[in-house]
Amino acid sequence: MVFWFSILSSMDTNSPVVVLVQCEQKDSKCQRLSNTIAVFSVFVLSVICMAVVITKLKETNKSFPNTRKPLHSYPKVNDNGTLQIISRDEWLAQPARNKTTLQLPVPLVILGNTATEECSKKAMCLLRVNTIQSLHMDIRRWDDIGYNFLIGNDGYVYEGRGWDNQGAHTKGFNSRSLGVSFLGHFVHHLPSERAFVALKLLLEEGVRAGKISEDYVIYCQRQLRSDLKSPGQELYEEIMTFDRWKEYGQEV
Ligand SMILES: *[C@@H]1O[C@H](CO)[C@@H](O)[C@H](O)[C@H]1NC(C)=O
Ligand SMILES: *[C@@H]1O[C@H](CO)[C@@H](O)[C@H](O)[C@H]1NC(C)=O
Repeated sequence: MVFWFSILSSMDTNSPVVVLVQCEQKDSKCQRLSNTIAVFSVFVLSVICMAVVITKLKETNKSFPNTRKPLHSYPKVNDNGTLQIISRDEWLAQPARNKTTLQLPVPLVILGNTATEECSKKAMCLLRVNTIQSLHMDIRRWDDIGYNFLIGNDGYVYEGRGWDNQGAHTKGFNSRSLGVSFLGHFVHHLPSERAFVALKLLLEEGVRAGKISEDYVIYCQRQLRSDLKSPGQELYEEIMTFDRWKEYGQEV
C-alpha cells in the first residue's frame, strides 16, 4: 500500500484522503481503513476516466456526419465535367430492326422515367438498359429501345437511339424531339446529383454538336401524354424549375 500512499500523496498533499491514510506504523485498523480508501480512490478514478472516455467517443460519433461527407457521396464520374456516354456496344444492344433519321436540330427535349428499378452502379445500369431494350423490341415489337438516351444514378448517359434517329417515347412528338429517360421512378425522391449533371452535360453537347436547337424547350412525357405518369412527381416538380422547361402550349 505504500505505493498507493505515495501516488495519492504526490497528487495533492492537502487532500483529505492523504491525511486519512497517514497512519502510525503499528495501527493495523488504521492501515486497513487506509487500504480500503486507497483501493476505493483508484476505483473511483478509473470510473471517472472511463466515463470521460465514453463521453468523448459518443461526441465524436455524433459530430461525424456534420464534419465529413461519407466516401460514397463524392462524385466519381462527372467531377471533372466530362460527359460519359456508354455506347450501345458496351451495354450489348441488339441491332435496331429499322431506323428513321431525325431532322436536326430538334426543337424539343422530352424527359421521362423508365419506370424500372433505379441503378447507382454501372454494372446494374448496363443490365437495366439491356432489359428495357428487350421489353421494347421483343414484347412491344418496336424497332429499338424507345429512348434516344437514358441516364443512370451512376452519372453515365446510356446511348439509346442516339442523336440521329427518331425515338419511340412520346407519340406525336417523336419526329421533332430527343427522348431522354432517367432510370427509375422518382415519385418520392430525386435522381442523384450526378444524374442531373449528366443531363446538363448531354444537353450542352447536343446544342454544341448541332443536334438540339439553341432555343430548345424541355417538356416532360406526362405533359404531352395524359396516359403517362412519367417522370414521377418529385422529379417532375424538379424539372419544372429548369429554365428551359415550359408549360405545353407556350412553345413557339
Ligand atoms: C474525366 O474522367 C473520366 C473518368 O471518370 C476520364 O475518362 C476522362 O478522361 C476525364 N477527362 C478529363 C478531361 O480529365
Ligand atoms: C423502315 O423505316 C423506313 C422509314 O421510316 C420505312 O419507310 C420502311 O418501310 C421501314 N422498313 C421496314 C422493313 O419496316
